[in-house]
Amino acid sequence: MQEIIRPAARLEGSVTLPGDKSISHRYALLAALAGGTSVIHNYSLGADCQSTLGALRELGIAIDRANGAAHVHGQGLDGLRPPARPLDAGNSGSTIRMLSGVLAAQPFHSEIGGDESLSRRPMRRIMAPLARMGARIQARDGQFPPLSIDGAPLHAIEYTLPVASAQVKSCVLIAGLFTEGVTTVNEPVRTRDHTEIALEQFGIPVEIRHGAISLGGRRPLRPCELTVPGDISASAFLLAAALIVPGSEILIRGVGLNPTRSALLEFLTAMGAPIEVLDIAQRGGELAGDLRVRSGQLAGGALAGELTAALIDEIPALAVLGAASRDGLSVRDAGELRVKETDRIATIAENFRRMGLAIHVREDGFDVPGGQRFHAAALDSFGDHRIGMAFAVAALAASGESTIDNAEAASVSFPGFYPMLRELAR
Ligand code: S3P
Repeated sequence: MQEIIRPAARLEGSVTLPGDKSISHRYALLAALAGGTSVIHNYSLGADCQSTLGALRELGIAIDRANGAAHVHGQGLDGLRPPARPLDAGNSGSTIRMLSGVLAAQPFHSEIGGDESLSRRPMRRIMAPLARMGARIQARDGQFPPLSIDGAPLHAIEYTLPVASAQVKSCVLIAGLFTEGVTTVNEPVRTRDHTEIALEQFGIPVEIRHGAISLGGRRPLRPCELTVPGDISASAFLLAAALIVPGSEILIRGVGLNPTRSALLEFLTAMGAPIEVLDIAQRGGELAGDLRVRSGQLAGGALAGELTAALIDEIPALAVLGAASRDGLSVRDAGELRVKETDRIATIAENFRRMGLAIHVREDGFDVPGGQRFHAAALDSFGDHRIGMAFAVAALAASGESTIDNAEAASVSFPGFYPMLRELAR
């Protein structure tokens, strides 16, 4: 599907975002393992989170949807049933990586794969720790989906993450739920902690000490009622749109503000973005609040090390803002971008080239000079939700009408993104 994006005079209005993708996956997975029905309000309607529900249904979990909530009828730690067919994670790295932690512990065989993009994403990062726990997993060429998993009784391990990855951390912790001992994950770089927070909500005590996260296995999970906050990573595109189009002012309601996710706000504020955070409240262990943003000239910025890890999903939007900023943006230590839904360094660079924007690409990042003019262009998401949305934002500030090919990719995390943009644009 192609979207046509016309330059906007300004953006104005208030919006509510879809439920956070990361949090939705975790609530659904843990709810399936709880002994009874959990109600998850504002569960993401994004395709990735539907993939998690689809796989859980295939494993015998009944799930009903009503008024934006997912009612998940958990069957306890030992209640999953062998799937009749291979599980389909679609485009979702979170689904395949976190669910593999569950599948590895089951007394049955399963297979899990996904679309063409997912089939190119590295899985050794979960296969290695799960193998140490006693799992038997085979992958295409030893590292790519589909995975063929022969469940086995797992034992607890202590594992130090070699890559900063919340998905791998979560996979090991979730697998740890099925062991008799204490599972510990050491994370040298802090990653999003939604799994730790969600586990506590489901009644599993989690000990966190100096980057070591531990839990004891074989404890029953308690069903609960939770509300998923709006997705802060989705907010990045609207913040960028409002910042880049002069005369804009928008209000984004109910955005998740978990400190392991909100580096975006600090980074943009440090660049000079006029963003106000209003009405902060805590629900189910997660912070949420409203964001008011006005357009403004940004200075420039540099991402490296832990900051890059904290902002990894926001880099496509930040690249666009960097080109419009005064001093530009440099990104380092971002090799992980090459193994996301697309090689995001390559897909950002290609869309920059099409818009006549300068970018200097490196193996682990790029440099974007500031003060650039955006030219209307035929752009492409290349099947990657965040690439399509970032360049739709760039197109709002371009010289004329642009197109985005494969725009439907936005529905992976943000169904309704294009209509929302049209609703805000004047
Ligand atoms: C996610 C973690 C991040 C992020 C992805 C979602 C999660 O990936 O990029 O969009 O929900 O845990 P990694 O854990 O691979 O860094």
